[in-house]
Amino acid sequence: MISISFSPERSADDVLLALPVTSADGIEARLPAEMAEAAPVARAAVTAARFTGEPGSIVEILANAGGTVKRVLLVGVGAGLDADRAGSALITRLLASGETALTIDVRAIDSAKRGDFAARLALAATLRSWRFDVYRTKLPAKQKPTLENVTIVVGDAIGAAEDAWAPLKALSKGVAFTRTLVSEPANIIYPESFVERARAELEPLGVEIEVLGEAAMHELGMGALLGVSQGSEREAQLLVMKWDGTGGTADPIAFVGKGVTFDTGGISLKPGAGMEDMKWDMGGAGAVTGAMRALAGRKAKAHVVGICGLVENMPDGKAQRPGDVVTTMSGQTVEVINTDAEGRLVLCDAITWVQKRFKPKTIVDLATLTGAMIISLGHEYGGIFANDDALADALLAAGRTSGDKLWRMPLGEAYDKMIDSPIADMKNVGERAAGSITAAQFIARFVDDGVKWAHLDIAGMVWASKPGTTWEKGATGYGVRLLDQFVKDTVEG
Ligand code: BES
Ligand code: MN
Ligand code: ZN
Repeated sequence: MISISFSPERSADDVLLALPVTSADGIEARLPAEMAEAAPVARAAVTAARFTGEPGSIVEILANAGGTVKRVLLVGVGAGLDADRAGSALITRLLASGETALTIDVRAIDSAKRGDFAARLALAATLRSWRFDVYRTKLPAKQKPTLENVTIVVGDAIGAAEDAWAPLKALSKGVAFTRTLVSEPANIIYPESFVERARAELEPLGVEIEVLGEAAMHELGMGALLGVSQGSEREAQLLVMKWDGTGGTADPIAFVGKGVTFDTGGISLKPGAGMEDMKWDMGGAGAVTGAMRALAGRKAKAHVVGICGLVENMPDGKAQRPGDVVTTMSGQTVEVINTDAEGRLVLCDAITWVQKRFKPKTIVDLATLTGAMIISLGHEYGGIFANDDALADALLAAGRTSGDKLWRMPLGEAYDKMIDSPIADMKNVGERAAGSITAAQFIARFVDDGVKWAHLDIAGMVWASKPGTTWEKGATGYGVRLLDQFVKDTVEG
């Protein structure tokens, strides 16, 4: 990842300079004084490119500055000062360009907005520069990232910029951590190694870690979670991460993540094509863990517990069978019609446990729960299901602000009936229709009366097959910015 610094002034020897512009008007005057003679070149370049300052568009010129030739990028931010698109466009262009240092001079931005803009630009650039090259031992030199240092020149907004950047820097580390967890293959990240990564990253920041292994979960009667794990050689883990930045004065809110480190489907085996994607079936747990990294890193004034149900869903001689009946920690029984509908079996016991142990008034769970969610919303919005309108609205708003967008889906009695079982209290799948909703209804049956609960089905959001504004293709880190924003707006706000 690139490293960011802020400076009041440009350094005389910078050779690669980016200038955010809101429109093509007055471009000539935006060039630094030492490049004044390049004004006609800049105008001609802007005209030739039909550049109007749209967010993320770039016009590049080479300008003679008193004997040295400097590379100048005019980058559009639009009237709305779109830092995400501008930061992203610069990184996309320059990350593997051979350049090592970039200066972005934002002093033309109104001074009241400048510090915040500079920090958001830094966040976008940092997120866009993240790469997972751990296993690429033969990456051609031209594909290797070269850009290391980005200096943002802010004039007298230096204090404002640094203050705004400190929490966003923590956020960027949370997103990066999530992306790493999600990107690692399932032979590297399995329940126990997930826990070790979380411990190493979070304990130094003051997050308290507690881990339940299979013996403890058996003792507690977590028959649903353990049933999923039964066919795997890897031991399931319940990872508990506690952050209290309120000095013990506030009730906790709980974030619960589905952490299926690999989902073969179990005995209801998935088809081979694309099965490798199921290494990221722990994306909910990844988001919760990254959010804890962000919150602790910025010392959020909030009391948050993050719980991850970590299991591997494998078929073998010990694996559970379709038709098996399991007893959950809540006492309710489940007929396991399809062993591939395992996420809800993991979440239900994790949710029962967190309610017993921490009595949270609010629970948000995140899960790559259903393929049907991708059919409904594609890769633009995660689905949100909630039993409380105010909680849903707060999460929807946090989604708009953070860029991790959500769209609300319905719950209701008619959907709930679809998971009644003739032999047990419920079955783990309904029919094909409304597959994401019946999955949510299943989880709803484990939420205690009076608890505000939202379920985020993020199956379409965790992994991207093409680059987005703030991510390269691959792990997006979806959910971390959302939860961080939600905490900021509701618990801290
Ligand atoms: N992890 C999958 C859901 C999923 C599929 C996430 C594709 C991302 C991409 C989940 O465990 C699953 O297998 N769900 C089944 C449920 C079905 C058996 C009712 C599904 O969606 O097909
Ligand atoms: Mn599955
Ligand atoms: Zn799954």
